[in-house]
Amino acid sequence: MPKHGQAAVVVENLVVRRGRLEVLHGLSCELPPGQVTGLLGPSGGGKTTLMRSIVGVQRVVSGRVTVLGEPAGSRDLRHRLGYVTQAPSIYGDATVLQNVSYFAQLAGASRARVAEVISQVGLDSHASALATRLSGGQASRASLACALVGDPELLVLDEPTVGLDPLLREDLWRLFHELSDAGHTLLVSSHVMDEARRCDRLLLLREGRLVADATPGELAERTGTDDLEQAFLRLIRAEEVA
Ligand SMILES: Nc1ncnc2c1ncn2[C@@H]1O[C@H](COP(=O)(O)OP(=O)(O)OP(=O)(O)O)[C@@H](O)[C@H]1O
Ligand SMILES: [Mg+2]
Repeated sequence: MPKHGQAAVVVENLVVRRGRLEVLHGLSCELPPGQVTGLLGPSGGGKTTLMRSIVGVQRVVSGRVTVLGEPAGSRDLRHRLGYVTQAPSIYGDATVLQNVSYFAQLAGASRARVAEVISQVGLDSHASALATRLSGGQASRASLACALVGDPELLVLDEPTVGLDPLLREDLWRLFHELSDAGHTLLVSSHVMDEARRCDRLLLLREGRLVADATPGELAERTGTDDLEQAFLRLIRAEEVA
């Protein structure tokens, strides 16, 4: 675990309310740089809310979120961070190429880079397709290409593999690890425990609290099972008994 100052993201005692509901109850965690951290846990547990807090689009009640050494939401972070929302956010009346080119212009990226990221997400054959004509999985990959094009240091990806077949999921996870090997930091949320083992570290979030912050190996050791789905259930049950 990196020392405090070295983490890509530091979350301290974060409290967030959405509507009348307190969603995160004093959450603290760190994201090590150059790793893929998985954010897992049941629906409604606060994964998207934590991601929004890191990206700087979520109003927080108290606590502190520091991203790449700056307070979350700082202007300076705009080009250093890429965020793919849970629902794909691309322009429907534009093609994949036009969408990615638009984000490339904002980020000052080249046309060659546009072609490169479209290829990385496996959308070469759909570059000239209108976004409204894309399948769910294609639209989410187009969104990912838009986030990647500026080569951001930190990528926050909210359920990027939903709706993808196993082959495409495999390709995307390979891409995530290529990015982390190149020094990028990734935070990837998922419902699918099967994806947890592909992460360097795991944050298990349930009802706004961290149930675990560990490597898949540590989690297996602590719970006595290699099956991460079982491990997660055991952690929750242990918490309920305590
Ligand atoms: N716009 C909103 N207004 C009020 N409450 C909200 C809003 N968005 C989310 N919530 C509530 O905040 C809590 C956490 O939601 P969040 O979207 O962070 O969960 P999640 O872990 O991302 O879930 P999922 O796996 O379904 O995406 C839930 O109880 C949800 O009902
Ligand atoms: Mg969510």
